[in-house]
Amino acid sequence: MCGIIGYIGGRNAAVEVYEGLKRLEYRGYDSAGAAFCDGDKLTLIKKRGKVEKLLPHLKSVRATIGIGHTRWATHGVPSDVNAHPHSVGNICVVHNGIIENYAELKAGLEAEGSVFLSRTDSEVAAHLLNKYYDGDLLYAMKMTVGKLRGSYALMAVCKGENKIVAACNKSPLIIGYGFGENYCASDEPALAGKCETIVVMEDGDLAEITAESVAVYNAVYNCELQSVIREPEPNLAVSADMSTGDCPHYMLKEIREVPESVLSTKRAFSGIADKFKTAVSGAKRIIMTGCGTAYHAALIGKRYFESFASIPVEVETAGEFRYKDPLINEDTVLFAISQSGETADTVEAARLARSRGAKIVAVTNSHRSQLNRIADIVVPVAAGPEICVAATKSYTGQITALYLCALAFAGKDDGGIIEYAAGLCRDVVKNTNVDKLAHMCARSRGTYFMGRDLDYAVALEGSLKLKEISYVPGDGYPAGELKHGTLALIDRRTVSVFVITDKELAGKSGNAVEQVISRGGKVAVVTNVKGLELPQGVSEVITIPECDKFLSPLLSVIVLQYLAYRTAVLLKKDPDKPRNLAKSVTVE
Ligand code: F6R
Repeated sequence: MCGIIGYIGGRNAAVEVYEGLKRLEYRGYDSAGAAFCDGDKLTLIKKRGKVEKLLPHLKSVRATIGIGHTRWATHGVPSDVNAHPHSVGNICVVHNGIIENYAELKAGLEAEGSVFLSRTDSEVAAHLLNKYYDGDLLYAMKMTVGKLRGSYALMAVCKGENKIVAACNKSPLIIGYGFGENYCASDEPALAGKCETIVVMEDGDLAEITAESVAVYNAVYNCELQSVIREPEPNLAVSADMSTGDCPHYMLKEIREVPESVLSTKRAFSGIADKFKTAVSGAKRIIMTGCGTAYHAALIGKRYFESFASIPVEVETAGEFRYKDPLINEDTVLFAISQSGETADTVEAARLARSRGAKIVAVTNSHRSQLNRIADIVVPVAAGPEICVAATKSYTGQITALYLCALAFAGKDDGGIIEYAAGLCRDVVKNTNVDKLAHMCARSRGTYFMGRDLDYAVALEGSLKLKEISYVPGDGYPAGELKHGTLALIDRRTVSVFVITDKELAGKSGNAVEQVISRGGKVAVVTNVKGLELPQGVSEVITIPECDKFLSPLLSVIVLQYLAYRTAVLLKKDPDKPRNLAKSVTVE
């Protein structure tokens, strides 16, 4: 949800900022901009559209200091004027987050004579910085953040000042250390190959960054700035991970990495299994929360805990959970599931549960996320960097992690079945052909994904994936619910995809298949049920290997991920950067 990058040092800041923005683009890509300082020269460039729109304008820039921003619009449409940096007087600022009291601040500033150019909440930060600037940019930042409510990661530069000043609260920001140069960015991958050592800024931190030095302060509880030490840590992001390899898109590469994400997650779990068992022992109640795909993984996790450990589990989307005044006490364990560990709703849900005494288990694919910092224990999803906005290998990693958690909670281990399932995933990755079905979906008026029990959870995920990157409308339903309303939507221009991997429920889902065919709807079936009898008229059957029913979601979802990918490509949509979306949803 917006990515920001800053550079100060001996290289050309235009190149460093541009490269950083390209790596941050998954966080938002509706507009981009940068500001550069070189002595007394301040250059500001901002454009609607993807980061590459900046390139022709950057070619002539030579500067030692730069800040950049790639935007996912919250306040104000994507446009040149709403793009960051925002500039007032000699100061330019980039912002990630939401300033909740911006309307009030704006009204006050306008009454004092400030003229606003954009519709963004962020522009108030530029006006405040300008108002408080008296030759000391750090002081101006301290005064500015003292007025802000909400979430922010800010970086500012000022003509004539040989520094970048940064601040953050509830939005991520890291500082990357170099030799005679330093960086600041929203996340580690932006600095892959640039800095081996980073510092993660904490809520309320301010930083003054020059080419030679970094000073971090915290002013949350003190009116005066207090110098603080933040431990340097290694940058774990690797630049090779940031390429698409021999694939045309990140999404395809990441689907192909599903088997490895399953295996790596198993390996990572063995390192924390005992700690996990201790942390959750005595739990009487389990709640699982997350958003989007992570929520869908939670639906599967619920089933694992209930089946393997006979403990009831409630699942709620994080955005709902946090506003429901949930009943929580010391016996509650909250599983907060999030690829990024930065999703605002999930982070706040965890904070709320923690404040009421719950133990927090973070299931994340990010080593240093906000969620990890709140959690009592982190269960790693070792999927590796996921750049495509649509989650793929992180979902299968989450399912693996939850499977292992549930077994551990029940005092069991997986007996090698995860390795076996990873091998089957490899078969599906290699041998699946969804071309015919993708053509059907691309031409359809609506798509319905259906299944029962775990297959229903996978159907929800398949539907989300297809909508998200191909924009073909549709929904996921429990197969049994079809006749209670959805059947009215079925006609020959619709495609219904049934996931059938549970032998015992196969016949029941077969009835729903029959009902769709009888109304003229096109049907495809993804199955691993041997000898499954299907009615005449099914257009496409995609077979996956037989597998334990609890692990079948790992296989069936690969088919649905491929389907979404192929459909998007057929429709000439960019699967990696779907419209209106961003990877890391750090705002409400
Ligand atoms: C869908 C997708 C989103 C995310 C959701 C939560 O493909 O990627 O639905 O799953 O925004 O993100 P995380 O897992 O980072 O909390």
